[in-house]
Amino acid sequence: MTDGVIDVEFEQPACATQHAWARVPVEPSVTERAALKDEIRALLRARNAVMVSHYYVHPDLQDLAEETGGLVSDSLEMARFGRDHAAQTLVVSGVRFMGETAKILSPEKTILMPDLDANCSLDLGCPIDAFSAFCDQHPERTVVVYANTSAAVKARADWLVTSSCALDVVNALKDKGHRLIWGPDKHLGAYIQRETGADMLMWQGSCIVHDEFKAAELAALKAERPEAKVLVHPESPADVVALADAVGSTSAILNAARSMAADTFIVATDKGMMHKLRTLNPGKTFIEAPTAGNSATCKSCAHCPWMAMNGLAGVARVLREGSNAIDVPASLIDRARLPIERMLNFTAALKGGHDAGALVPHIGAA
Ligand code: 13P
Ligand code: SF4
Repeated sequence: MTDGVIDVEFEQPACATQHAWARVPVEPSVTERAALKDEIRALLRARNAVMVSHYYVHPDLQDLAEETGGLVSDSLEMARFGRDHAAQTLVVSGVRFMGETAKILSPEKTILMPDLDANCSLDLGCPIDAFSAFCDQHPERTVVVYANTSAAVKARADWLVTSSCALDVVNALKDKGHRLIWGPDKHLGAYIQRETGADMLMWQGSCIVHDEFKAAELAALKAERPEAKVLVHPESPADVVALADAVGSTSAILNAARSMAADTFIVATDKGMMHKLRTLNPGKTFIEAPTAGNSATCKSCAHCPWMAMNGLAGVARVLREGSNAIDVPASLIDRARLPIERMLNFTAALKGGHDAGALVPHIGAA
């Protein structure tokens, strides 16, 4: 280990994204699409179920969620909505950690996902045994993990964060004297460290999608389109973040596009985001930030292969069969809920204008 950074890079198994791409559903025809949507609407009513979709999934799954009283949002609000909604069955269109978070928060509910193999490179790159050993080497440090992790890693953490609240949570922890272990996203961690000055030991995971945005190509595009503002998700490398006019979670990107006085935006996040950006801002132009394109190792070209595994046919099937229910071992649920609830309480206090910092104990306090 060198200063504050562990050297171990967990290589993605070469087949991981190929496997995911191979499972991406074929686009249904116009007639099939309409029939599937009708079937899903009816099944949601019959099962008293609600859809919760992430901004990166297929536009049909975003629109259908909203149209049927569900939600499309970032990962923080997906967790809150799933916990607070009265429906006993949630259909989560996103990646596995989102379904697991919903289950941990509401073990009594049935959480269905179109494809249980929809994973995330951050989750895959942070195996519990290695992460736990890392934490064990620094027992004096507070463990802060990103939502994009397994239930077991959450159960090893003191605090959970998403990109929409990481700055606030880490600032509050720093103010109370905490030194941190941070995992698994090295880019988000480095961004938070630069912004807060917190003492953070970093795990070296990354998102295969955001890792592919390229600063030199982005700078060239910016020069070609000087009128454009650049919106960047903080899972992107530091040199890409440095070119941003606004940095933040998927919701923060959406808010920036609506509120900034510009008509053109270059967007460095998964291209699934374009659907909401364009529908909510019909007069504005959104351009995808450049990636390594065909030379990219993950061949993602700014789209998450695991998010792409979600489709209408999968949603209809799991609702019809009650299949693909997320299961989290009972032995993990109570411990994993602790850091998630801390995050939800902290962000609710912030939103309500209360002193969220009061929810963070001083280091050494029980
Ligand atoms: P958000 O929390 O910003 O929605 O991000 C989740 C994610 O997986 C981004 O890649
Ligand atoms: Fe994980 Fe990246 Fe996909 Fe988000 S976009 S789910 S961080 S691999």
